[in-house]
Amino acid sequence: MNYISVQNIDSLSEWVKQALKIKKKPLKNKKLGKNKTLGMLFFNPSLRTRLSTQKAALNLGMNVMVMNFTNEGWTLEFEDGAIMDQGASEHIKEAAEVVSQYCDIIAVRAFAGLVDKDKDNAETVLAGFLKFATVPVVNMEGCTGHPLQALADAITMQEHKTEHRPKVVLSWAPHPKALPQAVANSFVSMMQLQDADFVITHPEGYELNPEITKNSVIEYDQNKAFENADFIYTKNWSNYTDYGKITNSDPNWTVTAEKMTLTNNAKFMHCLPVRRNVVVADEVLDSENSIVIEQANNRTYAAQLVLQKILENGH
Ligand code: CP
Repeated sequence: MNYISVQNIDSLSEWVKQALKIKKKPLKNKKLGKNKTLGMLFFNPSLRTRLSTQKAALNLGMNVMVMNFTNEGWTLEFEDGAIMDQGASEHIKEAAEVVSQYCDIIAVRAFAGLVDKDKDNAETVLAGFLKFATVPVVNMEGCTGHPLQALADAITMQEHKTEHRPKVVLSWAPHPKALPQAVANSFVSMMQLQDADFVITHPEGYELNPEITKNSVIEYDQNKAFENADFIYTKNWSNYTDYGKITNSDPNWTVTAEKMTLTNNAKFMHCLPVRRNVVVADEVLDSENSIVIEQANNRTYAAQLVLQKILENGH
């Protein structure tokens, strides 16, 4: 079993229930991962994913090895048949097979480069590990998805569930750097598995991949989208059509306390890290309605559920 996308979740409600059970007794399966090793390979920085996934593995009694390819690993080649006379020192074929001998599960973080859309959509790094690793692979955020985050988001929303069918809004917000669409994509896919009134709001031209958003409602008027919302999930992403570009940095899209008054006393969510007073105003992030710290805590139980399922599956 691999965990690469939200599509790997066979029943979201069941997984959320199981994760909440783990949260109540996180050390219950401390023996399950004995003598098993999780290898965590980072091609990009991380705080939450690195520590929560490591914590999850430790809760299961696993050993953990972490490697940063940004400054420690050999530069890898992913092209089949490449003549390796340039910068890359090692081919993914050897690297993935070698790491598979040391680890029982390989977790990989490799963001979108935001230069070549086709290359990013092909998930070159993740696909390379999936092809050549001989052990299960977990996606710790690829080019197009962040399924561990989406699972943690679903757990957090269940903990704050409303008595009525909730209105959930995914709102774009400005950011000084061009960011990938991965978090937003996985949140959309996860929301499509939920019984909710789901709305995506962003400036015109900032549409996510239509193959992911499918029939999800898009509302270009952020204020209108916020009306009566129970959850506001904010995230920046760069332009998908004018790929990887920042074509809008309108500060009117920043989530403020005034905008939150339009909602049904909504909970504020963000995957973190977040740029204060650019993406969201201090007053919202520091309010009682902000559940971003709980979201980050639930990353551990999302990861622990995924690792537990893989271990129970025979690895
Ligand atoms: N939300 C998230 O993935 O955080 P990190 O990038 O710090 O891991």
